[in-house]
Amino acid sequence: MIGLDFGTTNSAAALCGPDGEVRFALHDTPGGERSATFRSVLHFPTERPPLGIAPTAWAGPRALAAYLDEGGGRLLQSLKSHLASRTLRETFVHGHRFELEDLLAVILRELRLAAMAQLGDPGSAVLLGRPVHFVRSEESASGAAAEADAFAEGRLIEAARRAGFSHIEVEFEPVAAAAEVEARLERDELVLIADFGGGTSDFCLIRLGPEQRRLADRRASVVAVAGVTRAGDALDGRIVRAQVAPALGLGREGLSAEGHALPFPRWVYASLERWEDLSLLAEPRRLDALHRLVQHEERKARTEGDRTHRFLESIVYLVENDLGHLLAREVERTKVALSTEGSATLRFDALPRRLRGTFGREAFETWIAPEIELLDGALDDLLARGGIGAGAVDRVFLTGGSSLVPRVRALFTERFGAERIASGGELTSVASGLARLAARHEGAAQS
Ligand SMILES: Nc1ncnc2c1ncn2[C@@H]1O[C@H](COP(=O)(O)OP(=O)(O)OP(=O)(O)O)[C@@H](O)[C@H]1O
Ligand SMILES: [Mg+2]
Repeated sequence: MIGLDFGTTNSAAALCGPDGEVRFALHDTPGGERSATFRSVLHFPTERPPLGIAPTAWAGPRALAAYLDEGGGRLLQSLKSHLASRTLRETFVHGHRFELEDLLAVILRELRLAAMAQLGDPGSAVLLGRPVHFVRSEESASGAAAEADAFAEGRLIEAARRAGFSHIEVEFEPVAAAAEVEARLERDELVLIADFGGGTSDFCLIRLGPEQRRLADRRASVVAVAGVTRAGDALDGRIVRAQVAPALGLGREGLSAEGHALPFPRWVYASLERWEDLSLLAEPRRLDALHRLVQHEERKARTEGDRTHRFLESIVYLVENDLGHLLAREVERTKVALSTEGSATLRFDALPRRLRGTFGREAFETWIAPEIELLDGALDDLLARGGIGAGAVDRVFLTGGSSLVPRVRALFTERFGAERIASGGELTSVASGLARLAARHEGAAQS
């Protein structure tokens, strides 16, 4: 059984051998190297397939290469963040309907085939990771987040089935990362695992070590889990709100038919702030709505001299020319630069209206304060669920790409002190932990 970490941004598949060694399926990168991580993106070319034939998508690095080579086409990213959304069932590409599960299956199948080819795995059984709470589970209409999480997990499992897996098990991502930490522990400890990804931040408090490993039933080792549906993508969203959206008209006011000032169409700017939504703006239904907005504003402009439609036209240009993912890359690049630099410059020249902004780490940290507060609250929640204080934690392990954000790390150094904090395997710890757990499950099933 392989371990498969389907991440919002990066995915990876791995297999743990009888010797306890974890091997990853490797993928070619645009830079010509081989990498264990696989970007969780899909690309559909601009060119329509012949009538009656469904368009086919590339996944991962090939999708990125196709998008950059072609200079367009539909690039879908952060698809995992739609799993809990009941309103997003499908999308249309060149008139063909794709259910979300079908889209995810393209990515999962690619990882499955790579594992089969490189790791000699039969490709039928998988241990999948899942976040403690899926993005948007908190938005469920009935307020029942648990139900939304179960719905999302069901869809993830269905996607794996469509990708060709017949035996599918699921484990919390931070519990998987814990298995990776445990492999290196020489005595039993109470460990806090914190995994900050692209879509979600997931925590667990868990007893790990050689004694614990001897227990037949490990469920009691998990003291508590907690999760927040904000992570790297939400930090990118804050940069969009502060640096990109204002240049594209956010904050300007339109006028209602009765002449009242109206804040400018929120849903448009909200879509710019969430990569999973920006990916869908090119969908005919949404693009039509955007066009109607521009026309409406244009008519008003003639009578009232308002120029809001010009800003909206830039957004239509962004969508129609498939520039959304290029913008996302540039925003992400500036965020990553701020993890090591004191300031960064965002440059985006692809639009008729050029975007430029230089900002410091301090400004960034004020923009992301709401996310930091949520993470802080989740830590309180985790410790409360575990019925312990920060002092009882022997070790903290930080992982996931967004754990490299200094303000995120600072949350932990402030609470636990630098000496208790370890980190590593930012993009691979969940997949290798899943592979270790998968091997154990298999061993248990055979004995
Ligand atoms: N050096 C860095 N500084 C800041 N952020 C970073 C850095 N490197 C990666 N990231 C961010 O980490 C995120 C990706 O991390 P990771 O691969 O762990 O997420 P994921 O597993 O795909 O998502 P999830 O677990 O939420 O489904 C992205 O938002 C990326 O921008
Ligand atoms: Mg992850």
